[in-house]
Amino acid sequence: MYKTKHFVQKCTDLQNISVPLPRFLNNRNAFELFLHLIIYMGLLQEKLARYDLPQKYKAEGIYPYFREIQGKQGTEVVMEGHRVLMFGSNAYTGLTGDERVIEAGIKAMRQYGSGCAGSRFLNGTLDLHVQLEKELAEFVGKDEALCFPTGFTVNSGVLAVLTDHHDYIICDDRDHASIVDGTRASFSTRLKYKHNDMEDLEKQLQKCPEGAVKLIVVDGVFSMEGDLAKLPEIVALKHKYPGTAIMVDEAHGLGVFGRQGRGVCDHFGLTDEVDLIMGTFSKSLASIGGFIAADSTIINYLRHNTRTYIFSASDTPAATAAAREALHIIQNEPERIQALWDVTNYALKRFRDAGFEIGDTESPIIPLYVRDMDKTFLVTKLAFEAGVFINPVIPPACAPQDTLVRVALMATHTREQVDRAVDALTRVFKQLEII
Ligand SMILES: Cc1ncc(COP(=O)(O)O)c(C=O)c1O
Repeated sequence: MYKTKHFVQKCTDLQNISVPLPRFLNNRNAFELFLHLIIYMGLLQEKLARYDLPQKYKAEGIYPYFREIQGKQGTEVVMEGHRVLMFGSNAYTGLTGDERVIEAGIKAMRQYGSGCAGSRFLNGTLDLHVQLEKELAEFVGKDEALCFPTGFTVNSGVLAVLTDHHDYIICDDRDHASIVDGTRASFSTRLKYKHNDMEDLEKQLQKCPEGAVKLIVVDGVFSMEGDLAKLPEIVALKHKYPGTAIMVDEAHGLGVFGRQGRGVCDHFGLTDEVDLIMGTFSKSLASIGGFIAADSTIINYLRHNTRTYIFSASDTPAATAAAREALHIIQNEPERIQALWDVTNYALKRFRDAGFEIGDTESPIIPLYVRDMDKTFLVTKLAFEAGVFINPVIPPACAPQDTLVRVALMATHTREQVDRAVDALTRVFKQLEII
């Protein structure tokens, strides 16, 4: 032990007197990690030590993740002591700091306590959960709904058990990671088609035997690209290939599309054609949690078989009540969704006019394509320094050639804030010769 300490001290001294070291070791944290690893390394650590991308980006000063926010998530936030415009949030309705939502959470916490200490299946069902499930089912136009602790556990749990080894799950290749994980846990055969390519989807359907269930799963709004699933075409294929069912993830559709924000299925008038609708509370509903809605037969099965529902504690009283309050506000304040669309259309036009490549987005999610991973991180850093927080999107969230920074609008953003963001981003993109 003495020897080890002595060795560490020696190496640290070496670093202090600036003996030339590999560049990445000039960073003190990386240097200490390196020392720790060579001294204590087991096989597992040795393998994982080869994963050093974060250290590389930290050493270059462009690591963009886990920034600490001090305070509520409004359109402007204080992040690491720096006041920035928040264009990296999914709070489309702008309700996360709304006093009514906060009060509903506090009231529920006082009434029901801080947690449920158990699964919905056993001791974790509150009347509050049941009320919210009824309201959500009615809102999205289905018989029943089930609430889960997060949206991720809805997709990963439901898809794992919904179909069996005779069946097929067919996904768009840009579907969310939680859908991918759900299909990985399923016994069904997994197929995928090129993003929004209906010919390719049909080819996949043709591979499936007639008697099998063919479940098509799509994001209603694609979370990184901001474009919509081609639901009318998908429904037409459902009719052409008997045994096909459809599940739509409305994570980014709720509170944004459809009557009173009922989502993309409602927007297309196709709610009855879609078999399962999934949603999350972590975006427009200003809380944390998720739900699945479907007819009673499907819900009865899922209620008793979904492992992430049965073997995980129920969503907290505060989170449930906050989501319920946000749902009420969305339905009672149509002007909120109108404001979101006004500022979204304004931003779309401004980014297009400024020469950004923004793809096929039709939503408050605006991808600004960079198409280079290092530059994507650099844009994020320079934008932050210029007072704009945006999210870098790199693989596996997109294809390697499609890296981008993602701008997301909220109903509470002003045109003046959009102007500031567009101007700052234009300067950064020009400086890096992206536009
Ligand atoms: C399309 C999509 N589905 C599911 C989820 C998971 O939702 P949650 O954040 O509630 O776990 C997300 C969240 O990023 C998402 O974007």
